[in-house]
Amino acid sequence: MNVVTGPETLLAGDMARIQRAIDTSFDALLPEAGDSRVRLAEAMRYAAIGGGKRLRPLLLSATATLHGVGFESAVRAGTAIEAVHVYSLIHDDLPCMDDDAMRHGKPTLHRAFDEATAVLAGDALQTFAFEVLADPATSSDPFVRIELVRTLAGATGASGMVLGQMMDIAAEAAQESGQFDLPTVTRLQQFKTGALLEAAVEMGAILAHLPPEGRTHLRGYARAIGLAFQIADDLLDAEGDEAAAGKALRKDAEAGKQTFVSLLGAERARAQAAMLVDQAVLHLERYGPEADTLRALARFIVERKH
Ligand code: IPE
Ligand code: IPE
Ligand code: MG
Ligand code: MG
Ligand code: MG
Repeated sequence: MNVVTGPETLLAGDMARIQRAIDTSFDALLPEAGDSRVRLAEAMRYAAIGGGKRLRPLLLSATATLHGVGFESAVRAGTAIEAVHVYSLIHDDLPCMDDDAMRHGKPTLHRAFDEATAVLAGDALQTFAFEVLADPATSSDPFVRIELVRTLAGATGASGMVLGQMMDIAAEAAQESGQFDLPTVTRLQQFKTGALLEAAVEMGAILAHLPPEGRTHLRGYARAIGLAFQIADDLLDAEGDEAAAGKALRKDAEAGKQTFVSLLGAERARAQAAMLVDQAVLHLERYGPEADTLRALARFIVERKH
């Protein structure tokens, strides 16, 4: 470890850099609000630019640059996965889903615009992601582009995030029926949240041309932080500060939703998240200080207040 810049300083710097880069990239690539698409473009920009932690792009770029990929190339792929994440949040906040009024410290898209615009802006951000990945500017290698598309599509759809969201709806009111046990909630979270976080690391490895057999340790790392991330989100919902989080909290208990916290209690959930972070860091054993961003990110994921 560098004595002048410890892992936390390093992470703060790397995080600020990717946040700036993703904002700039969205600004350059998203449609402009200057023609008949004006309202759609404004809505996409409202949701995509500013506010998010950009954890998925950071995971992607930290994995890619660790293996020699240039930052610019990682930012394009990072913009694509963040567009899917933003779309998932827009739809997650809709009245027919979580019915939330605040996101990233400002009114949710359907509150600032209207519901139909929010549905359509989410749809358009999703296809935008695949347009960015399929563009030769992301990688000159068509095999890399198709692997990126396949990985992100797989993590997003009916065997990824969307499936997780579907299961999450069924988890509401499951506290009462006791239908959802720990293995079921674990599976749900792996789809809902884990799939995209794992895809971020995988996409970094794809950009770096790592052979599949050389990705096992990275997949282990990603799986552990994916689960730790959702435990932290559930703890945040139960105990966090709304102003710091920039979104409404205490939603899970209100909905009677079965989560890690409802099943384990806060203390055991916290211990489980800490254990997963240690596991994640162990998977990075083969690397030296060049992997400190990934290590610090694993810790940040469970210590975060937003
Ligand atoms: C929040 O994700 C939604 C879940 C997947 C639980 P993030 O915490 O990564 O979202 P940002 O940083 O606010 O965009
Ligand atoms: C949302 O989970 C996960 C996705 C958008 C895929 P939550 O509903 O727990 O996220 P927050 O708490 O609203 O950010
Ligand atoms: Mg939800
Ligand atoms: Mg929600
Ligand atoms: Mg939540």
